[in-house]
Amino acid sequence: MRRKLVVGNWKMNGSLAQNKRLLDSLAQGLRDVSHVDIAVCVPYPYLFQAQAVLAGTSIAWGAQNVASHDNGAYTGEVSAAMLKEFGASYVIVGHSERHGAYGESAANIAEKFAIAKGYGLTPIFCVGETLQERESGVMEYAIANQLDPILSVSGGALLDQAVIAYEPVWAIGTNKTATPEQARAAHSFIRERIAALHPGAAESVRILYGGSVNSRNAAQLLSMSDIDGGLIGRGSLDADDFESICRAAC
Ligand code: 13P
Repeated sequence: MRRKLVVGNWKMNGSLAQNKRLLDSLAQGLRDVSHVDIAVCVPYPYLFQAQAVLAGTSIAWGAQNVASHDNGAYTGEVSAAMLKEFGASYVIVGHSERHGAYGESAANIAEKFAIAKGYGLTPIFCVGETLQERESGVMEYAIANQLDPILSVSGGALLDQAVIAYEPVWAIGTNKTATPEQARAAHSFIRERIAALHPGAAESVRILYGGSVNSRNAAQLLSMSDIDGGLIGRGSLDADDFESICRAAC
């Protein structure tokens, strides 16, 4: 039985003062929620703040990207070891907002996935089709193209306990949520694809849905079979909304 997981992706939002209010509220408001794993993925500079406020609570924290190298002359990059120093448990890799804007290749994302795992972080690997791909009937092909480099680079052991997020690009930041049935179908496809290569890992991998999840649609989406939780953008920036979404995951 996979435990549900709800992760807030703050993206490039926040300030010391705003974060303090949000994190304090979450720590307080989610104290009694024990049926679901909860995490927030914050901008790098705020990792220390997440660690300071959330240490000792049941809310974990993480980052939104990681370097694909251990250390060295990689100006502007942040390593997995550095994330670990600030107590991070999770790191998002391959978010569509990154490979679109920063040209991350599938091979590069697979390296990030492997290095995160190697340092004991849980990678949250994002896949998802564009509207054009969905409408032209190549959705599964597009998802498989993103997934397969990870499946071939990573052995079953690396995939074990990893997290995949299905984030249809057309649903991110648009208020156009996938229907529960659309999301469920994509999740089953992803799990079957993993099972074909790594049957053991397919059962333990948690597959989250992301894309315009809010406090009104969360319960329906997160109750679908094969949807093991959510990756939440805008809905994670407001304490009441995020709390409702976490409570809806059961
Ligand atoms: P929104 O929830 O704002 O649509 O963002 C989803 C997302 O990209 C999470 O990673």
